Amino acid sequence: MRVGILTSGGDSPGMNACIRAVVRGCLYYGMEVYGIHQGYEGLINDEFEPMKTSSVADIIHRGGTILQTARSTDFMADEGMMKGYENLRMHGIEALVVIGGDGTLTGGEKLHRMTRMPVFGLPGTIDNDLAYTDFTIGFDTAVNTVLSAIGNIRDTSSSHGRTTIIEVMGRHCGDIALHAGLAGGAETILIPERGFEVEDIAKKLLAGKERGKLHSIIIKAEGVEMDSNVLAKQLADMIDCETKVVVLGYIQRGGSPTARDRILASRTGVRCVELIREGVSNAAIGIKGDTIVDYPLAVALAMEKNTHLDYQRICDILL
Ligand code: F6P
Repeated sequence: MRVGILTSGGDSPGMNACIRAVVRGCLYYGMEVYGIHQGYEGLINDEFEPMKTSSVADIIHRGGTILQTARSTDFMADEGMMKGYENLRMHGIEALVVIGGDGTLTGGEKLHRMTRMPVFGLPGTIDNDLAYTDFTIGFDTAVNTVLSAIGNIRDTSSSHGRTTIIEVMGRHCGDIALHAGLAGGAETILIPERGFEVEDIAKKLLAGKERGKLHSIIIKAEGVEMDSNVLAKQLADMIDCETKVVVLGYIQRGGSPTARDRILASRTGVRCVELIREGVSNAAIGIKGDTIVDYPLAVALAMEKNTHLDYQRICDILL
């Protein structure tokens, strides 16, 4: 049997560990595997490469993706998708593994629905915005990257008695902010899933100042509609505190994956190969608690995300 694998969308630490698991899992079970470079763009442009054990040597610890990635609008059009499908057929590919986020798995589901090509989705994104799995591959590493930044910023905020707004990634999901904010002891966490009043933040900062707090850290998810610099200005005017903004940006997408992400990548990757062997027609593979789970792609993508809104409540108690 011949399997294809690609990474698509925003890259995430752990994608390489996942590629490694799928490639070596396929070879272990006597299957051939082709890497497809540049995500769905490479599928359309026929950028296929046969993979062997050595192709994925010494990559489990590396961030990024050895197959590169791209955001492809062409693939979402029927013509592009059919071109990709023809290339899969031309190479004798009988099952396609796609590693990425919501857009990637959505494209894979459409390919399966339109062509009946067996497609399997693995949750490679830092955003943790896929409802069918408790965690996505790269999320834990991104949270720890943010945590390290919070520590550095806390030092200088204390020295200067400043309030600092740290803006983090996550697209429309607040999980990076929630988890890093709780772990980092942030005073306030702002996420798109829940509204807030600037006055309430100001009151909390003022109370802290009156208690002698030397600094305050506000973690703000990028999906929150209010601009971070506007918020900083309003707070500075309301409570006469020097307020800075740090947008962490793309450092959250790189770095050596944590053990947790490497293990999640390895477990889901091997399970994916076993589902292919079992003749399953399509699946999204993830984790619930400590159990590796799988659902048909359409079922997985239809699930509603539940957000740990109690994390802010815990922060309020522990301030
Ligand atoms: O989906 C991952 C992600 O890093 C989001 O958190 C972020 O908003 C987006 O990708 C950035 O996209 P791009 O890499 O295309 O600028």
